[in-house]
Parts: sequence; C-alpha cells; structure tokens
Amino acid sequence: MRGSGDSDHVPVLLEEVVSLLAPTPGETLLDCTLGRGGHAAAIASASRDVCVVGTDLDEDNRSAASARLAAAGVTHHTRQGNFVRAPEFLQASGRAADMVLADLGFASNQVDDPDRGFSFLEEGPLDMRLDPTSGTTAASLIASLSERDLAEIIRHHGEEPLAARIAQKIASERARSPIETTGQLAALVREAYGVRARTSRQHPATRTFQAIRIAVNDELAALQTLLDRLTRALRNGDVAWLRPGARIGIIAFHSLEDRPVKQCFASLVREGLAVDVSSGAVQARQEEQDRNPRCRSARLRVIRSTID
Ligand SMILES: C[S@@+](CC[C@H](N)C(=O)[O-])C[C@H]1O[C@@H](n2cnc3c(N)ncnc32)[C@H](O)[C@@H]1O
Repeated sequence: MRGSGDSDHVPVLLEEVVSLLAPTPGETLLDCTLGRGGHAAAIASASRDVCVVGTDLDEDNRSAASARLAAAGVTHHTRQGNFVRAPEFLQASGRAADMVLADLGFASNQVDDPDRGFSFLEEGPLDMRLDPTSGTTAASLIASLSERDLAEIIRHHGEEPLAARIAQKIASERARSPIETTGQLAALVREAYGVRARTSRQHPATRTFQAIRIAVNDELAALQTLLDRLTRALRNGDVAWLRPGARIGIIAFHSLEDRPVKQCFASLVREGLAVDVSSGAVQARQEEQDRNPRCRSARLRVIRSTID
C-alpha cells in the first residue's frame, strides 16, 4: 500500500441502519460486506450479546473488521468470500440471521489506495478487483473485450452517453500499446470527451471507471444472486438461515444497484412476505452529507420478514 490507502472508511447512514435493523439481545447479524466493520460494530454495540457473522471479498478488510469486533468484545465469525455464499457461511457458523446488511460497492480505504487501481485521480495499475488475489484485472478486461462489448459495458454499467466514443478511443490506443494504468485510461476518456470535459459536472472518467469496476467484480450479478437467495428463503420460510421477523437492509450507491433492490423488496411486500420498515429509500441527512460526501448517493432500504 502507498499514498492514502491507509485511510479508514466512514460507515454511511450509521444511525439509520442501527435504528432500522433494531438489534435486540442475543440476535445474529449477517454482514455481507464487512468492510472495516463500522456498521457491524455499531449494530453489535447497540444491544447485548449480538453475534456477527460476516464476509468480505477483500481479505484485508475482513481481517480489519474481525480485529475491530474482537477489540469490542463482540462474538463473531468472519470469512473472506463473496456474499453470494453468505447463507453457507451462516450455516457453517451454526447461526441463522435476525438481521442482514449489505452495504454495496467499495470502501474508502480501497479507493484511496492507488495500488488497487479504483481511482482516476491517482496513478496506479488498472486492477480494480475487490479481491486482489483472484479474477480478471481491469487491464486484462480492457485488453480482451471487443470494442462493441466495451461500449456496451460503459453504456450500461456507467450510464455513459459517450460510451461508443470512449470504447473507440480505447480500441485504437490499445492497438498501439497496452492500457495498463489508471492515468492512461482517465486520459483516454478525457480525450473522448474533448471540449465537453470542461463543462462536465463530474470528472469525465467517473462513469467509465464505475462501469469497468462493476464488470471486473461482476457486481450486479452478485447483487441479483443475493436478492434471489433472500427471496427464496422468505418464500420457503427457510428459518435455518433467515429467522422469523428478520430485518434486511441494503445500501445502494447508484441506480443500477438500487433498482433491483427496490423491485425485489416491493415484490416481497406485495406477496405479504415482508413489510417495508424504511418507507422506501432513506437518504443521508444534510449534516452527514456535509461531513462525508460519499454518502450523498447512498440509498438505504430495509424490510422485515412477516414470517413468524
Ligand atoms: C461500502 S464497503 C462496506 C463498509 C462497511 N459497512 C463498514 O462499515 O466498514 C463495501 C465492502 O463490500 C465488499 N464487497 C463488495 N462486493 C462484495 C461481494 N460480492 N461479496 C463480499 N464482499 C463484497 C468490498 O470489498 C468492501 O469492503
């Protein structure tokens, strides 16, 4: 690690998460995205004897969260891995969940570390893997996809109107030399933007970096699998992993994540399997937005299982 990669992550919507998940003594939290353990520690400290079962793709974050929970005296079972397998982790720990939390995307310490390649603001290798020990890097993905597939990913995952131009720039540049750094990719996007870069409200590379990161980590498919597994557990009354009255909270950071969560929760409510305890999406109060700009795009939705 170099640069500011040691910065810690400030959990978003912390008070709202704790009050809507409403822990009671002896309950179990399944934290699908431990990060640095901020949410998990706050939820565990809000009631007596709360046990945390958690996972994270990033081993460094998992171990930091585990150390934090240990220091706070919280009973916990954590494992490195993808939250698509969270129910199996839960089963292996011999617990069922009273609360489930997924705080999607990446943590500040990951984006602030230039060596992880998430940031267009600092030079680093084009990596972007949440689990830096496995899978395809952003550089390999960019080298291997056809121009058409690149454009499709940038358009769909980044909602980028200039996707075709950006993909064309990338394709012509990589024919000359490989694109291996964040700086190279950011410069190409800026070139594709041309004069529009001056009037763009956000950095021109914002959407492209988001798109590539989502593709590298297959983030939308993982979210959909988690939603499908939650849905199945509620429909089947599978109390071995979701206990009666379980609360499920998901924090999304862009509409591609928030839309499937909203649709899934709405259909569970329509089926009478859950009630909407957050009354739609909760957003950060102005005071939190001033303190932590990252929370401006956060949307928290929470439902409670009606199974008893
Ligand atoms: C926004 S941070 C969570 C921060 C955490 N709530 C806290 O308070 O510190 C998101 C975390 O989820 C992890 N992550 C993202 N997708 C994942 C997945 N499919 N499975 C497991 N972990 C994932 C990332 O590595 C990152 O550490």
